[in-house]
Amino acid sequence: MSPDTDVAAIVEELTLAEAIELTVGTSDPTARATGYLAGVPRLDVPPIRLVDGPLGVRIPGETSTAFPAPLAVSAAFDADLAREHGAALGRETRGKDQDVLLAPGLNVIRVPHNGRNFEYYSEDPVLTASTAAAVVEGIQSQDVVATPKHYVANNQETDRAALDVDVGERALRELYLAPFRATVDAGAGAVMSSYNGLDGTPMSEHRRLLTDVLKEEWGFSGFVVSDWFATREAAPAATGGMDVEMPGVSMLELLSGGEQGGEDEGGDGGFSPADIDFPEEFASGMPDPESVEGFREALPGAVERGEVPRKRVFDMAQRVLTAAEDVGVFDDDRADGAVDTEAHRELARRVAIRGSVLLENDGVLPLDEADDVALIGPNVDEAVLGGGGSSETTPVVETSPIEGIEERAAGSVTVAHGLPPVEGFSMFDFGDDEGEEGEDGHGSEPGEEYSVDDAAAAAADADVAVVVVRDVASEATDREDLRLPDRQDELIEAVAAANDRTVVALNTSGPIEVPWREDVAAVLEQWYPGQAHGHALAAVLYGDEDPGGRLPVTFAPEGTYPTDGDERRFPGVEGTVHYEEGVFVGYRHFDATDATPTYPFGHGESYADVAYRDAAIDGDAVTVDVANVGDRDGREVVQVYVRPQAVEGVDRPVREFAGAASVGIEAGEVASVRVPIDDLALQRYDPADGWTVDPGEYTVEVARSAGDVRAELSLER
Ligand code: BGC
Repeated sequence: MSPDTDVAAIVEELTLAEAIELTVGTSDPTARATGYLAGVPRLDVPPIRLVDGPLGVRIPGETSTAFPAPLAVSAAFDADLAREHGAALGRETRGKDQDVLLAPGLNVIRVPHNGRNFEYYSEDPVLTASTAAAVVEGIQSQDVVATPKHYVANNQETDRAALDVDVGERALRELYLAPFRATVDAGAGAVMSSYNGLDGTPMSEHRRLLTDVLKEEWGFSGFVVSDWFATREAAPAATGGMDVEMPGVSMLELLSGGEQGGEDEGGDGGFSPADIDFPEEFASGMPDPESVEGFREALPGAVERGEVPRKRVFDMAQRVLTAAEDVGVFDDDRADGAVDTEAHRELARRVAIRGSVLLENDGVLPLDEADDVALIGPNVDEAVLGGGGSSETTPVVETSPIEGIEERAAGSVTVAHGLPPVEGFSMFDFGDDEGEEGEDGHGSEPGEEYSVDDAAAAAADADVAVVVVRDVASEATDREDLRLPDRQDELIEAVAAANDRTVVALNTSGPIEVPWREDVAAVLEQWYPGQAHGHALAAVLYGDEDPGGRLPVTFAPEGTYPTDGDERRFPGVEGTVHYEEGVFVGYRHFDATDATPTYPFGHGESYADVAYRDAAIDGDAVTVDVANVGDRDGREVVQVYVRPQAVEGVDRPVREFAGAASVGIEAGEVASVRVPIDDLALQRYDPADGWTVDPGEYTVEVARSAGDVRAELSLER
């Protein structure tokens, strides 16, 4: 069809049945897409294919680039890098001949235990918004529809399908909605609604948030797609603003890639998730497909009875077609995309490095390449690709820590596991192969005796010990606590006691407790680094690259977060979770309580030494010269925070993050840096008056983290 396909004209031609077919998923004949809209062959409307997810393109049985987890992307504090990452995701989506990517995930990190934090960006709305908007622009630059998810307040996995969220309007607007709005402004063609309810109404039927706010107030012209099996009754969903019900097929069909029959073949018939042997931990996080009233079956009658206006159904179809047309679904010259290119492999490595946060370093890093290394850890044989769930991605190539370090080290490398492998969750592999060697050759030698003492002995014999440890996280379940699982803390303690040049490399889904921090020489956080794990680890440890990341989440002891120790706040009581902390999430909470976190928001060390000079306000931005006064090239993340005005009767945070710039600076050089001040940091949402900027004087901080302010400026508003 021509590039100027007239969507309105197609919609005019649709029968009601054809329009409804554009609003509900069906089986993909090729069993590849995560969600599939059949299109309208009579009118040359092609099928529209939706695919997961934020870490890479997930198609059962296929490979694609396994990029680092989104939390690593935001840790780079660099919207340009995020845009490049989004473009690569979009290119792979097209390379797989899909149309809509079910990403980015941008729920603000409220609960440090949330099992999906690795899929999200930050505890801060400005960092989340700028990263997510850039990822959306990148994805859509490749002729792919981006789908910001999960709208909104899906901040935990426990009971996610049944939970109701009680959140005040100010926190909802300032923290949880703001990043979604930024992605709509960036042109997102779709938005995925979440499983939870809000103020007593399921999000899939939430007229105020889906229609009044998203579509009318923000001008969103794309389509709202339900999370999978999240819709309940069809008519309230359609009238509330839901445009597409997914998946429209049974759970069995979905999980088996369409191979199992539907009801006719005796395949479904009252199938529920309980019939699948999901790990017990997932129980409260799984939706119930039986509670879904399908659009295909229910909408014709609902229209006939006048429960759903006919024109609403055509609006739903029009929204789908508009988003599809915008990314060239009807065009012959649409981008073809590409999968697993050299450029994508390089980007996967680069993002993993740029997202690496050096939490501590007493000078042991960078390593000397002649050092004899003891490489220790239960999972040193495998790259940490991600957590469990719909974001699981299978790469063509991957580098384990062993491969990465062995390739780079000039000294000897002795490997000791110390403990049996820490098993991650998979939502697509619920066999009983626990403890066996993985099919892909991962895991330790069969019959190997794991010994913490042997690991400590290997450390004692080496110049330096590198201990690689991980947590385990998955969609549909939350982390039980913030400790490293199994006996990894004990392993670290034993190694640190044997070698005072011990480096801990963390692979975690979010904040983790570091009880041994005083006993080790360096701590490096690399999140879930994806396929380039080993290369990224070696590049940072040996100082080939400066660790470019800073913390997008505060690290603090369990018990000190605002959602700790109060069931009403997490995981909720009697089906409701109360966001009683209001806007005091993450560093806003720690600042307000004067509690000292282990590592503050924005923290991360560099191998370079920098000095900040001549900070000034220039219009709506901060300018500052950053001198690299050391003898190593480095990367600096200049951060700006606003200290809001005191307003009577309103509790304001001590500081709000207002923006950052990440700059590479060669030794001896000075970089002139400009950081725009995000409006969101100056505004507050007043439930009576809407967005408000209180007139007066604001203190603007130029900082290396929320806990390390280098200059204070004053801004009049
Ligand atoms: C997840 C979504 C995902 C969808 C399709 C749901 O369980 O919450 O993030 O896109 O499944 O796999």
